[in-house]
Amino acid sequence: MASPYEVLLVDPDADEEAIERAYRERVKQAHPDQGGSVEEFRRVRTAYEKLKAGYDAESENGERFGHAADPEDGDAARREYATTEVTYLNYDVLADHGWDADDPDLFEKAARADLAEADFGQFRVDPGESLLEGAENRGHVWPFACRGGACANCAIKLVEGELSMPVNHILPVELMEQDIRLSCNGMPITDELKVVYNVKHMPILEELLLPPRPFEQAYTDD
Ligand code: FES
Repeated sequence: MASPYEVLLVDPDADEEAIERAYRERVKQAHPDQGGSVEEFRRVRTAYEKLKAGYDAESENGERFGHAADPEDGDAARREYATTEVTYLNYDVLADHGWDADDPDLFEKAARADLAEADFGQFRVDPGESLLEGAENRGHVWPFACRGGACANCAIKLVEGELSMPVNHILPVELMEQDIRLSCNGMPITDELKVVYNVKHMPILEELLLPPRPFEQAYTDD
């Protein structure tokens, strides 16, 4: 049982900047791809969200903030097998509307723009599905090629939430820091995700793309 300050390893008097720094450090350590676990990752995020929302120990009515006592954080096994609500936006429509992928109001603008269902909307990802599988199983056609973490054709940009990627042979740290992830093997680890899909044509990604060989070429080269 620990307070959000204890989870983030910061002093209760810490200012916003110190909390932000501590969160970035802790969330990195707790990430399932860095040796942490889904439960620990959620616990750190929940602690951070509580502090951001103006956490007040008194107002929690004596309830202990901790892994087992917090309904948001609660039963790790249940949460690990929960579904994730995904809101998606097609990168291809950004240029048409003069939108920037880093615009903090991007999804609000998209929601007001009356976009086609293929370009903007929501679906759920079920337990055990990757983000790409979730999209495909709900009838969406998203780009991919290798489905094995090696080509970046399936790349998405995270606007909210997080994915765990057991295999990533292609994305350098700089792209990970810009919230680029792979959808083919990225497993959602937050209850909600907001993603821009089809970002393979972003300038920062184009040089990483390994195009699939054309069918005829694959059988005539050797
Ligand atoms: S489809 Fe190749 S990395 Fe995802």
